[in-house]
Amino acid sequence: MKVAPSLLSCDFSKMGEEIIRVDKAGADLIHLDVMDGHFVPNLTIGPAIVKAIRPYTKLPFDVHLMIDYPLDYVDAFADAGADIITFHLESMSDPDLTIEKIRSRNVKPGVVIKPGTPAEEVYPYLDKVYMVLVMTVEPGFGGQAFMEDMMPKVVAIKKESEKRGLEILVEVDGGISEKSVVHAAKAGVDICVSGTGIFKAEDAADAVKILQNSDKN
Ligand code: DX5
Ligand code: ZN
Repeated sequence: MKVAPSLLSCDFSKMGEEIIRVDKAGADLIHLDVMDGHFVPNLTIGPAIVKAIRPYTKLPFDVHLMIDYPLDYVDAFADAGADIITFHLESMSDPDLTIEKIRSRNVKPGVVIKPGTPAEEVYPYLDKVYMVLVMTVEPGFGGQAFMEDMMPKVVAIKKESEKRGLEILVEVDGGISEKSVVHAAKAGVDICVSGTGIFKAEDAADAVKILQNSDKN
């Protein structure tokens, strides 16, 4: 399984060093949580920060937009150096237009669903996206408990995309730990996001390795 440390749990006073730390620890991608204070009750980083930290690693930037109008910000995050942009189907922007816009900027598009949104909601977009992100906590904050009952959604999305001959990556985000990742691995998750599990770990490299090996027997 690939591992994407979420910068939400890093030391914000030294983001550059924190990125280098998880890059050296063996991370596969860097997950960036963008929150607008409307779509979720928290405010985090914008495109200026993404641009400022871009030179600190060559790892892909996986930008998770938790904002009301993702379509309006695709250009700004593409310019800032995003490699993947995911946005919520519960947001206000038209999903087809947003996916098209992301693709037009040579960025990989992904759709995200909150815990209350059924798996079937992503089916109309499966042939257009690179990734589906299934939230395993209510978006907004790090350090919450993993919702194991989201795993049937992962299984259903994987099954539906295989049925259509597509190779879509399924990512999970929220509450991933050494313990909970086992459920994600069993469900067939391709990428797990982990904030506190990596940044607050005693040894980030150990934490990354445990998550990466969770789907190997
Ligand atoms: C929540 C964010 C997550 C969060 C994960 O809205 O999308 O990326 O930072 O943090 P942990 O791993 O601590 O649950
Ligand atoms: Zn996230």
